[in-house]
Amino acid sequence: MQSITITTPDDFHLHVRDGELMRLVVPHTARRFARAIIMPNLVPPIVSTELARQYRDRILAAVPSDASFEPLMTLYLTEQTPAAEIAVAKASGFVHAVKWYPAGATTNSHHGVQNIEKCFEVLESMQQHDLPLLVHPETTDPAVDTFDREAVFIDRVLAPVIRRFPNLRVVLEHVTTQQGVQFVQDASSRVAATITAHHCLLNRVALFEGGLRPHHYCLPILKREEHRAAIAQAATSGHPRFFLGTDSAPHSRTAKEAACGCAGIYTAHAAIELYAEVFDRLGALDKLEAFSSCHGADFYGLPRNKTKITLERTPWQVPESFSFGTDTIVPFRAGGPVNFQMVNGSAIPSKAGI
Ligand code: NCD
Ligand code: ZN
Repeated sequence: MQSITITTPDDFHLHVRDGELMRLVVPHTARRFARAIIMPNLVPPIVSTELARQYRDRILAAVPSDASFEPLMTLYLTEQTPAAEIAVAKASGFVHAVKWYPAGATTNSHHGVQNIEKCFEVLESMQQHDLPLLVHPETTDPAVDTFDREAVFIDRVLAPVIRRFPNLRVVLEHVTTQQGVQFVQDASSRVAATITAHHCLLNRVALFEGGLRPHHYCLPILKREEHRAAIAQAATSGHPRFFLGTDSAPHSRTAKEAACGCAGIYTAHAAIELYAEVFDRLGALDKLEAFSSCHGADFYGLPRNKTKITLERTPWQVPESFSFGTDTIVPFRAGGPVNFQMVNGSAIPSKAGI
């Protein structure tokens, strides 16, 4: 197959940040995707519908004029979130979910949740209003090994919450382990997961290839090969409760190449192309559209997109970096080849393959 045309995809887990960096990254996503679930972990976080409305306006202002892109906003759950905010969020029409960060689990999560029981009233209201809960499923217990944090969190924390709120729609974000995949497969139709391209393409060896590789450091951290294989298999299986969420998470080169570097991999510049590589390697390009453009929309109760994109099997080279302000970001595959190229993005015309 030399080219493939699919319904324009949606990205159900995306960080676009704010300010100059936002203006750099939003066009990359808007060219490839019709919609994206926007993560709320700004500083300060997006904790209310009003803050989400303002953030949405800033994102829309960064969308190129010839692109059509809808940011799907989320709220950042805290132990102080009033239960009454959920009705407001639902009524807004632009807030599509609430994100649960265990406090300290990842970038800008310190305002997150220490004790989820403090949020039970909010979860009750979300269940009533059918507003999905998006979970960063990793324990913050320092006694638990970094590579085991997803499996332990699912057992100890998430499974009891799901039992308590059986009708709440829950998305395990960026699932990275066999245990995570199994949990979703065994769960009810209310429980789904997003899968990133980088967790399908790389295992933890990529963190140490020839030296320490800060641009491959993200959270959840890359896992062993058997886990990589399990999530790539889940993504390409056609199972309706696994769908695309890039977790594209740009940080400046300065913040990444540091003694204590930030977690996050930037993939928005080549997102759908990288997923096409995953599906191609497993001989499953025929399942790409369902994963990228159907399962997520169906789970969120959104209409599927009406437009199409076409990907061609034509290798191109990713730039070494992208500039913003006085810094740069180093993208995934910097300086290396990507095997698929977009020939008709939903939005801006292709410039030097980007
Ligand atoms: C994300 C970020 O930088 O905001 N980092 C990451 O490694 N994925 C946060 C997150 O999604 O965990
Ligand atoms: Zn994320």
